[in-house]
Amino acid sequence: MIEKTLSIIKPDAVERNLEDKIKSFFEENNLKISNIKKVKISKEEAFEFYKVHQTKPFYNDLCNYLSSGPIVVMVLEGENAVLKNRELMGATDPKNAAEGTLRKKYGLSIDKNSVHGSDSIDNGKTEINFFFK
Ligand code: CMP
Repeated sequence: MIEKTLSIIKPDAVERNLEDKIKSFFEENNLKISNIKKVKISKEEAFEFYKVHQTKPFYNDLCNYLSSGPIVVMVLEGENAVLKNRELMGATDPKNAAEGTLRKKYGLSIDKNSVHGSDSIDNGKTEINFFFK
């Protein structure tokens, strides 16, 4: 099934000029970038975006981090895009990410893990709507 999902290139990866490499990796793996923009969000916007994590101990640091510098937000589109994107990203903690995945290649730590991706079709719709109204 053709799906849409949201991908974010996080501040650590934008700062290291990894944007083009990450975009090419998605396209080479048959995920089309159908919308894209570079933004810098406020801490309040980060709180809203990550509100599913609001009870987690890392919530505040996570929101500080996402709002700390420019990010690139993209809509990825393709066959099984949600799962495909998650496979291409690899495990949340780069230490556990499989060889060849984005987080294995570029992630620095569980916080600075270079990319975010929606975890379900429904969350994908919510997250896409958050950035591309
Ligand atoms: P992301 O896929 O963007 O979703 C939430 C983020 O919280 C996650 O990537 C990590 O960067 C960050 N995070 C920090 N600590 C943890 C943790 N213990 N478990 C899961 N995510 C964490």
